[in-house]
Amino acid sequence: MDACPIPQAAEPCALVIFGASGDLTKRKLLPSLYNLASYHLLPADFSIIGVARRPLSDDVFREQLGKALGELGTQPVDPNLWTRFRGRISYCAGDVDNPETYDKLKQALTASEKQFKTSGNAVFYLSVQPDFFATIAKRLSEAGLLTEEGGRWRRVIIEKPFGHDLASARTLNSQLTSAMKEHQIYRIDHYLGKETAQNLLVFRLGNAIFEPIWNRRYVDHVQLTVAEKIGVEGRGAFYESAGAFRDVMQNHMFMLLALIAMEPPTSLEGEAIRNEKVKLLRSIRQTTPEEALMNTVRGQYGEGMVDGKKVPGYRQEPNVDPNSTVETFAAIKLRIENWRWAGVPFYLRSGKRLPRRTTSIVFRFKTPPLSLFATNEADPIAPNYLIFHIQPDEGITLQVRAKIPGPTICTRSVRLEFDYNQFGDRQPTTGYEKLLYDCMVGDSSLFHRSDMVDAAWQAASPILEAWNNNPPTDFPNYASGTWGPEPAMRLMERDNHHWWTEEKH
Ligand code: BG6
Repeated sequence: MDACPIPQAAEPCALVIFGASGDLTKRKLLPSLYNLASYHLLPADFSIIGVARRPLSDDVFREQLGKALGELGTQPVDPNLWTRFRGRISYCAGDVDNPETYDKLKQALTASEKQFKTSGNAVFYLSVQPDFFATIAKRLSEAGLLTEEGGRWRRVIIEKPFGHDLASARTLNSQLTSAMKEHQIYRIDHYLGKETAQNLLVFRLGNAIFEPIWNRRYVDHVQLTVAEKIGVEGRGAFYESAGAFRDVMQNHMFMLLALIAMEPPTSLEGEAIRNEKVKLLRSIRQTTPEEALMNTVRGQYGEGMVDGKKVPGYRQEPNVDPNSTVETFAAIKLRIENWRWAGVPFYLRSGKRLPRRTTSIVFRFKTPPLSLFATNEADPIAPNYLIFHIQPDEGITLQVRAKIPGPTICTRSVRLEFDYNQFGDRQPTTGYEKLLYDCMVGDSSLFHRSDMVDAAWQAASPILEAWNNNPPTDFPNYASGTWGPEPAMRLMERDNHHWWTEEKH
């Protein structure tokens, strides 16, 4: 029998969304909140206040959200639930830099506290350009909206990028912490809200058989892949200032790395987990510029075929410099300098316009010390692999050696598969439900703490510096619809490894 504690609805609160007319509100936040309401995880005493520049009435705003929910929600809209939900939504028009906006917001929060009994608690979701984070934090603080008193709490959610490099990340951190306390800041990472990402800890620490082999004695190397089929999808202007390394690797992938490689925490309490993550991030070996160039590969997609259709190269995308040297693919080899992982290479790769959308974490274990069994010649490598499929088909695979039926002993790799789709009733999600709920109950374990952000930038800095000082001369160097530039294969081959693919094994 499954024995799960019945989840409690979050505490009464108001959710204030800055940038309420934007895409994130319609695609992710509203559907997630609606899903939480349908699972009875939203408090009965709840309200949503949208803030954006355009003047709108409450009713028009509600209509817009209702339409978006019908189109973009992950489940059919129940008219009764929507009617209750709708009545708790209001709108506050204003410019984020204008103190009057915050006076109006204060009144709206007071009214909502009276009407919906939100107990003065509030989450401020800053779904705006990162340039506005510091301004909004400052204005909220000046208006007294971040003061926690009389038992009420105030929390602020921001989404990456948390700075552009170490220096700007530190500036942002100090701007935020001069407006509020660190415990009030929830730096969200939607990758950590993914189901299999959350299962990593359970799998590793809830099963006695895995932790003993989770170290340099048994693990040969680890691979993390975040592959995307899409290109920059109209985000050329943003991407020109980011690139694959800043956009995905330095944050989502480093945080997944921290989760799989950290020491077991002493409890599941947010700070205990984050203390271990930061220790791990600080153990990433700081490379010299020469090592950084040797252990990294950059790529940019040229035109090519994806799903049988011709697609343009990155330099031909709207709002992209026709001579751009921004990378759309990055592969790196990292070392973690601690007792558990010394000597174990970690290979990370991420890119756009690759053949398939897939995110996976692959542990390759060492081969048996003696090769007792004959192998099938077409399949000569005999190590075990443990693969966490984060998306799109969530699951876990353990690849082991087995005897091929027949009179002689000949072996082949077989896969023991755990498929999330066949595991209990799965409720439709956007990936934000868990993160929003955690913020409302004050569980910060899946959110980045400022020292984690700092440590991730410190690990990234030598690479970014080496790249900056040595601009690429061969871009574009991979065709859309392929697995990235040739040197990314050589990064593995020179260590006698290869990137794990679904097909090969
Ligand atoms: C975002 C990046 O953080 O993650 C995007 O800015 C990327 O460029 C996206 O496409 C990938 O997220 P997911 O959940 O679709 O894998």
